[in-house]
This record gives sequence, structure tokens and C-alpha cells, in this order.
Amino acid sequence: MSAFDTVTWFVFLFAAVGFVAGLHLMNSPRTARRGNQISAAAMSLAVLAAIVTAVHGDSVTRTGWLVLILGSAIGSAAGLVSARKIEMTAMPQLVSLLNAVGGGAALVIALNDSLAGHGRLAAATTIAAVLGVFIGATTLSGSIVAAGKLQGIVPGKPLSFPGRGIVDIAVVALSVTCAVWYIADSSTIVPLLLLALFALIFGVLLVLPIGGADMPVVVSLLNAFTGTAVAMAGFVIDNVILVIAGALVGAAGSILTVLMARAMNRSIGSIIAGGYGTGDSGAGGRTAGDAAEIRTTDADDLAIQLAYAHKVIIVPGFGLAAAHAQQEAADLATLLTKRGIDVKFAIHPVAGRMPGHMNVLLAEANVPYDELLDLDEANQQFEQADVALVIGANDVTNPAARRPGSPIAGMPILDVDHAKSVVVIKRSMGHGYAGIGNELYTNPNTRMYFGDAKQALSAIMNAIKTLVG
Ligand code: TAP
Repeated sequence: MSAFDTVTWFVFLFAAVGFVAGLHLMNSPRTARRGNQISAAAMSLAVLAAIVTAVHGDSVTRTGWLVLILGSAIGSAAGLVSARKIEMTAMPQLVSLLNAVGGGAALVIALNDSLAGHGRLAAATTIAAVLGVFIGATTLSGSIVAAGKLQGIVPGKPLSFPGRGIVDIAVVALSVTCAVWYIADSSTIVPLLLLALFALIFGVLLVLPIGGADMPVVVSLLNAFTGTAVAMAGFVIDNVILVIAGALVGAAGSILTVLMARAMNRSIGSIIAGGYGTGDSGAGGRTAGDAAEIRTTDADDLAIQLAYAHKVIIVPGFGLAAAHAQQEAADLATLLTKRGIDVKFAIHPVAGRMPGHMNVLLAEANVPYDELLDLDEANQQFEQADVALVIGANDVTNPAARRPGSPIAGMPILDVDHAKSVVVIKRSMGHGYAGIGNELYTNPNTRMYFGDAKQALSAIMNAIKTLVG
């Protein structure tokens, strides 16, 4: 091994350690920003080392450099603009599109290298190429459909057709046939191209029957696929840093998928089988038709309740994000804290539309980390709370989850109904993501405050200021 190769290996090793250290720091909101910076710096170092290696080996043609420079410029500009402009609530769509790009890149790398070296590839490389093509193409088409569903371009409800199971099996069987064909005879690229086609169809078939409510879990699963496809592409082109980065993404995506499924009490198998989140089932609780049993409140009443409470637990959900009301929620907490009231935020692991959604929003509004309670901590404290103030959260507070037979049975929820009184801020009796009614709204100790979260919180703060001077 030449001195240049040794130095390159050490640089890659250093970058890999940076990825792992960065991921570790992302475990806590306090250190997550630094973790992101370290991972980004390590990735920049790895890219730089890859460029230096290509220059040193003189392995890229003039046209190749032109494509590389243009591709990097367009990709970086698109990434920068979309990351800056994207609404927090649209982040899952962006992640899904980035998964599609990752899967597509892995597909192209595996195809290109097989094309360049056909007939001369080692058996282990053809297996990695086959896996890279299959997983990459599945991720590419599946992620585009997932992004379309999240964006509302493709209908969010599960889409299926008679005989879907047979078509699924046929597509998988044809894919396996092409894979075996290519591994046995890599002198022709035809089986690999056919495999890519069947995998693209498989990706669409995989995601279409999955309901909108499960889409964030599917996006995380596709993220794990992207990582695996990239690792396979790394094996094909013998690039160790690609293998490491891909494996880390694959592992992190898989763990996140399992954690999210667990937080919803669903199995990965039942999520992939599809059919959940079909819309209004009405099961599990009373719906808009029972409006007679609903007790409402207004800003003045709520101001009295909050201003003279000892302990208030705020429960944010997707509606807080949709209303961009995180700053108002933080300001209300500050106002109450200044009056000596103990204020905490209870964070459900799947509140909102992506992992850590509420943590990110509240961090944006500079809510101190020690005011955040996780699910278990919050559930131990609701009984001592005078008011549980639910802002735009629905499914994550639905007591129907405690009842066997309800569509969300077994999903861990925030026990807001254990608080002395519950106030729910939302615009209507509309359902949440799971499409079922919420029994909480008709509980005797619950008051509904109908309105947009941002406007409601401003009105409540004004009322408190008027009340206490
Ligand atoms: P949801 O159950 O989806 O309920 C959100 C509520 O916000 C709606 O009922 C809506 O009621 C209200 N809302 C919307 N816009 C509002 C506004 N401008 N002002 C006030 N309220 C507004 O949200 P959640 O409780 O956060 O639960 C999350 C759901 O997503 C769960 O079903 C969970 O399983 C699913 N999910 C989440 C994830 C992750 S990782 N977060 C992953 C997979 C699935 P109105 O229309 O009446 O206002």
C-alpha cells in the first residue's frame, strides 16, 4: 500500500469516527446541533478525500469532471434552497425526496460499475450490485410515491386493487429470477436493467397501499433502505467510506423505524400490509355528531384557570406546528412561569408528523430543555397538574387507546385526562391523523377552546395580562 493510500485510509477512518461521534451527540437535544456540525464536517472531509483520490489516480475524464462539478453545483444549490425554504410541517416530504435521490444514486452507481466491468466482476461484487440495484430502485420509486402522498399529490388513503397479492408475488419472483440470472452470468447487463424495472414497480406497489397515518414510519423505513443501497454501492465500487456511511444510515433508519412503530403500538409487518389511516372510522370515540356533550371555554375563563394554577402541563401536537404557534406557546409558558406557576411541556414520541417534531419546534422558540417531559415522566405528573393544556394534539391524547378493539388500541398515550382539568385548543371536532374520534373531548373535566392555536394562545395571553395587570 502506498503512502498516499495509507493517508487516504486514515482520513476515511477519521471521517467515519466523526459520523459515529456526530450520531452519538444527536442523542440529546443539548448536543444535537454540535452532532450535526461534526457529522457535516466529517462528510465534507470524506468528499474532499474522494476528490483528491480521483485527482491522484487520474481516474476521471474531462467530461466526468464536468458532470461532477455541474452535478455537485446543481445538487448543492437545490439542497440549500429547499432546506432553507421548507416548512417544518413539510419536512417528511423533503426527507422522502432525499431518500429517493439517495436510492437513485445507489442504483446508478451499481448499474454504471456493472456496465463498465461486465463479465469481469467477482461473484461477491455481482451480489452487491444486484442488492444495490434492487434496494436502490425500490427506494427511488417508493420514496417518490411516499412524498406524493405526504404532499397530497397522490391520494393519502391506502390504494389497492383486486389481486394485489398475486401481482406482488409475481414482481418479487421476476426480480429474484433476474438477480440469479445476473449473478450466474454478468457478461450481459440485461438482467440488471430488468431487475431495476421490476424493483421500480415493486417500490410503487409497496407504498401505494399504505395509509397516510403510517407514512412517516414508511419514510423512515425507506431511509434505512437508502442507507443499505448506498452501502451495497460502496461494495461495488470498493469505497470503504460509502460502505460505512451507508451502514450507519441503514442502522439508524432501522432503529428509528422500530422505535416509531413501537410508539404507535404497530408492527412493521402490519404497517407494510397497509390499510391503516383510511380516514373517518368513527370507532374509538364520539365524533362531531355528539356536539351536545361538548363543554366549551373562552379566553377569559381560561385566563383565570391558568393564572391561578400551581402546575400546568402543555401538550403540543401537530396543530401547534400547523398554526406556527410555537412562539406563542413558549411565551405563554414564560408568562405563567413568571407568576411562579410550574409549567412543563409533555412530548409524545410521535406527536406531529416526524420524529422529534415537537422538540425541534420548541427549541426554535427557545423553550428550556428542562421544561420538556417525555411520555413516561409526563404521565407520572398529570395527576398533580391543575390544567393539562392540549394545543393541536389529538391522537396522542385519545383514551380510546386504552380500550381493546379500538383502532389505536395499545398505543401509548399522554394521560391528560388524569389532570384536574383538561383544555383542548383546536379548530373543530375534526379527527387527527388516525381518522378516529377522541373520547377525551366529551369527558366531564374537558373544556374545548375552538380556534386556530396561534390566535387562541394570543387571546389567552392578552386575557391573562388584563386579569393580573
Ligand atoms: P393529530 O392526531 O394528527 O391531530 C392534530 C390536530 O391538530 C387535528 O385534530 C386538528 O384538529 C388540529 N389542528 C390542525 N391545525 C390546527 C390549527 N391551525 N390550530 C389548532 N389545531 C389545529 O396530531 P398528534 O396528536 O400530534 O398525533 C400525531 C399523529 O401522527 C398520530 O396519529 C401519530 O401516530 C401519527 N404519526 C406520527 C409520526 C411522528 S414520527 N410524529 C409518525 C407516524 C405517524 P382541527 O382540524 O379540529 O383543528
